[in-house]
Amino acid sequence: MPTRLILLPFLLLAAAAAMASRVTAESKNTSGCPDSCSGISIQYPFGIGTGCFRNGFEIVCDNVTGMPVLAGTTRPVPVNLLSIKTAEARVMLPVAWQCFSSAKTVYDSSDGDVHFNSDDVYRISNTHNQLVVIGCNTLAYTQSQRSEGNGYYLYAYYTGCMSFCNNSRSATDGACAGVGCCHVEIPPGLTNNNMEFELYNRSGVLAFSPCDYAFLVDKDSYTFRKADLKMDTNTKMPVWLDWAIRDNLTCEQAKKAESYACMSTNSECLDSSNGPGYVCNCSKGYQGNPYIADGCTDINECDEHSKEYPCRGVCENTPGSYECMCPRGTHSADPLNIPCNPNFPLAAKIVTGTIGGLFIVAIMVFIFLIGKEKRKMKEFFRKNGGPIIEKVNKIKVFKKEELEPILKTSNRIGQGGFGEVYKGYLRDEIRPVAIKKPKIDVKVANQFANEVIIQSRVLHKNIVNLIGCCLEVDVPILVYEYVSNGSLDKILHDNNRLPLDLDLRLQIAAQSAKGLAYMHSEITTPILHGDVKPANILLDEDFVPKISDFGTSRMIAIEENYTGTIIGNWGYMDPEYVQTGLYTSKSDVYSFGVVLLELITRKKVLDPDINNLLGNSLDTYTKKKGVIELVDPEISAKGTIGIFHSLADIIVQCLNLDVDLRPDMADVAERLQFLLK
Ligand SMILES: *[C@@H]1O[C@H](CO)[C@@H](O)[C@H](O)[C@H]1NC(C)=O
Ligand SMILES: *[C@@H]1O[C@H](CO)[C@@H](O)[C@H](O)[C@H]1NC(C)=O
Ligand SMILES: *[C@@H]1O[C@H](CO)[C@@H](O)[C@H](O)[C@H]1NC(C)=O
Ligand SMILES: *[C@@H]1O[C@H](CO)[C@@H](O)[C@H](O)[C@H]1NC(C)=O
Ligand SMILES: *[C@@H]1O[C@H](CO)[C@@H](O)[C@H](O)[C@H]1NC(C)=O
Ligand SMILES: *[C@@H]1O[C@H](CO)[C@@H](O)[C@H](O)[C@H]1NC(C)=O
Repeated sequence: MPTRLILLPFLLLAAAAAMASRVTAESKNTSGCPDSCSGISIQYPFGIGTGCFRNGFEIVCDNVTGMPVLAGTTRPVPVNLLSIKTAEARVMLPVAWQCFSSAKTVYDSSDGDVHFNSDDVYRISNTHNQLVVIGCNTLAYTQSQRSEGNGYYLYAYYTGCMSFCNNSRSATDGACAGVGCCHVEIPPGLTNNNMEFELYNRSGVLAFSPCDYAFLVDKDSYTFRKADLKMDTNTKMPVWLDWAIRDNLTCEQAKKAESYACMSTNSECLDSSNGPGYVCNCSKGYQGNPYIADGCTDINECDEHSKEYPCRGVCENTPGSYECMCPRGTHSADPLNIPCNPNFPLAAKIVTGTIGGLFIVAIMVFIFLIGKEKRKMKEFFRKNGGPIIEKVNKIKVFKKEELEPILKTSNRIGQGGFGEVYKGYLRDEIRPVAIKKPKIDVKVANQFANEVIIQSRVLHKNIVNLIGCCLEVDVPILVYEYVSNGSLDKILHDNNRLPLDLDLRLQIAAQSAKGLAYMHSEITTPILHGDVKPANILLDEDFVPKISDFGTSRMIAIEENYTGTIIGNWGYMDPEYVQTGLYTSKSDVYSFGVVLLELITRKKVLDPDINNLLGNSLDTYTKKKGVIELVDPEISAKGTIGIFHSLADIIVQCLNLDVDLRPDMADVAERLQFLLK
């Protein structure tokens, strides 16, 4: 177990330190000494024969009885067991007794006194032994041997008990509680076996209890029998002794001393629990004799001691410990005591496998669907010229999901044949944008891309700024700056007509012309509008015109069934283009001429008067005259006749059926600007 393993280095260090401090200590060579007597194991510090034992631990193998006895005692003390591990000895000690011949006459006695050897290594174990007194009017006690008290009571410890019998039948087998027998715990530190009896009147009990007895005995080894009231006076009782190295030193002192007894590596010192001195023990995980060099050896927990060191898994011995783990693929909350179980029973495996499988299939389907949608979006992106547009810095390519929140019916501000226009706010933007979502198909992807790129580079105050586009849809969505006052078409022809004075109209005309002129001639690649009409001239809050939908109207193919749109555009369309299919900058000029006409007459292009004017049949003079006649009465009074003549001149020139005779936009813009002054 890990915790045990962690301890190991520390223990080794401690052991090494201990070794270093006793290099001079003699190492006992006990190989020539008898290691047992009468089957009883004798191990160092015990020993039989000179040089085989530590002082105070001599054992004699009695040549008469054949039994081992403690050496140096006042009476033979037979030994049953000498335990190195628990620092205990089990010996047989005589019973003390006194026998009566009459009521108060003791005819013989023994106090059972045994003095152990002068080295004083033994103490009578207070934990394992008890004092038993047997008799029918008896008080007996024991005392510590060494005189330590003063005055009348010489000793440190006294203990004893009283036993009485009312009659011969009083005492019963198995009960030692004051009737014929009593017992008492003993204090620690008792060094010998010495009893005192009080002398009480035996009258009436002599027949069934002629003697008193007192003895120390192993608690587990003696049960009172009524017959013991007449016990043999030579009886010996088993008694546990605690032994220790009684050098008058604690462990701490002993470790520094030359005489330190814990010789073995992997051994430790424990202060004696009964009397002075210390005992040695093998460290945890080791066993053997700590009192001899290398006496403590690793315990093979796995093979030899499976009861003390359980393991229900795979056991592996390590120095001073062992590891117990479950084999791979199994587990146990406590491998020491609970058998290892497979991690997954078969049923669980099947269930887990099935669920896992279904889950994976679901995920794959999901991924496939997402992938399909993604591929579709990618395809649109490519088809719409995304790869080209992406390379341009200024134009922003929006993701579909960025625009989706704006494309709601509640945000719709315009709708028609071309598609739908939404007003909304992009994320993190303060200024609104207009999003144009065309209904109809884009002609050629690369052409679209090119136009978008060119437009995005244009920055002119009279041209609606294209911010970006979204290409992940079948028809590209365009994002423009939002122009607040709506289109010129709306301003001119709305039901609640606002007054529009001549100056404002001239200003709108001049600036619109500037925007167109700029696109026609002031940029490297000219861009034609293709669909100049009042609906495509937007006005901002200061009525500054901004031309919208540059080029894009032309890029978006007009399908035949969108007749409404086409009719709407007819009036503005250059007849030359209709005839030849050749669209030039002069086609834009023609359309602008129609816009000018609408602007000063405030009549719709489909108005019969206007329509008549645009007809082919009229000559220049008549047309000019017609224009002046149609001027909106709201402004006709304010301007000088010269202004209207000049305006009519410009209009008629723009509308000239001969393309070459039309002025270019720069010229128109300049002349309008002049009129404004
Ligand atoms: C101990 O003494 C015996 C002879 O009595 C000898 O053979 C043996 O090698 C000695 N062992 C040690 C470890 O000194
Ligand atoms: C027993 O040993 C002692 C000395 O240890 C000796 O005096 C005695 O004669 C021996 N007795 C027998 C029967 O061998
Ligand atoms: C020595 O250790 C063992 C095992 O840990 C224990 O059973 C024994 O009582 C210890 N001996 C002493 C004298 O404490
Ligand atoms: C005590 O002994 C006397 C005489 O034998 C007897 O009469 C009496 O009942 C005994 N008492 C008890 C409690 O046994
Ligand atoms: C002992 O006690 C009995 C009565 O129980 C009495 O007769 C006798 O005198 C006593 N003997 C002594 C020596 O006190
Ligand atoms: C043991 O130590 C005490 C004091 O600590 C001392 O009085 C006594 O003489 C010592 N006994 C032995 C045998 O060293």
